[in-house]
Amino acid sequence: MSLREKIDFLKLPQHIAIIMDGNGRWAQNKFLPRIIGHTNGVKTVKNIVELANSINIKVLTLYAFSTENWKRPKDEIFGLMTLLKSYLKSELESMIKNNIAFRVLGDTSRLPEEIQEEIANVSEKTKDNTSLILNIALNYGSRQEILKAVKNIIDKKIDNPTEQDISDNLYTKSLPDPDLLIRTSGEMRVSNFLLWQIAYSEIYVTDVLWPDFSEEEFYKAIVEYQKRIRKFGGI
Ligand code: FPP
Repeated sequence: MSLREKIDFLKLPQHIAIIMDGNGRWAQNKFLPRIIGHTNGVKTVKNIVELANSINIKVLTLYAFSTENWKRPKDEIFGLMTLLKSYLKSELESMIKNNIAFRVLGDTSRLPEEIQEEIANVSEKTKDNTSLILNIALNYGSRQEILKAVKNIIDKKIDNPTEQDISDNLYTKSLPDPDLLIRTSGEMRVSNFLLWQIAYSEIYVTDVLWPDFSEEEFYKAIVEYQKRIRKFGGI
């Protein structure tokens, strides 16, 4: 039986979040520059977005650039931004064709202006699409996101705020929390990603490096998720 056949398509996770790690190691293992790892990482992004949409996942959230990633060498940051720009340009048509709504989670104001413009363009042109919501986390940090939510709540003079008030002031407002969090490349960390939203998510870590994360690996994660019994603190 193939892995795909093991999936119960009536019980799919609605929202999958992914920490895409291991591009650098993938390149290093092949004695290639790190940026080639990221270039191949983008190919995986395209495959996984298409696959998630085709099996009817409703929300996919990918961690592409954290608030801490500015500490990387300038040329690597420049390379990542260049890849991002060409991704946005090359994928707009296919997002429209495949009914995908593109959104960014994070503080975009620190990103290069031309990228901000491209993000605004792609977000606007796809905003009414209904098949898959694709969130890319860019200059994203979860603690900063929660702090921003708290400040919004104070500004709005909401007294006695509830958990819902916090959720409503995060970048992910009105989206379901992730059911499944995948991390590639073996590290057992959540790295300041969606801390509030993953309170009850199932976590799946694989040693596979992101550029090698294939269709089969994606199915494996879903099969593993479906084996777990989610109790949300109950018995
Ligand atoms: C982790 O690998 C990956 C990143 C920090 C960036 C992820 C970015 C992409 C997949 C490409 C750009 C994204 C889009 C959406 C166009 P690492 O460099 O931390 O790997 P390492 O831990 O092995 O060094």
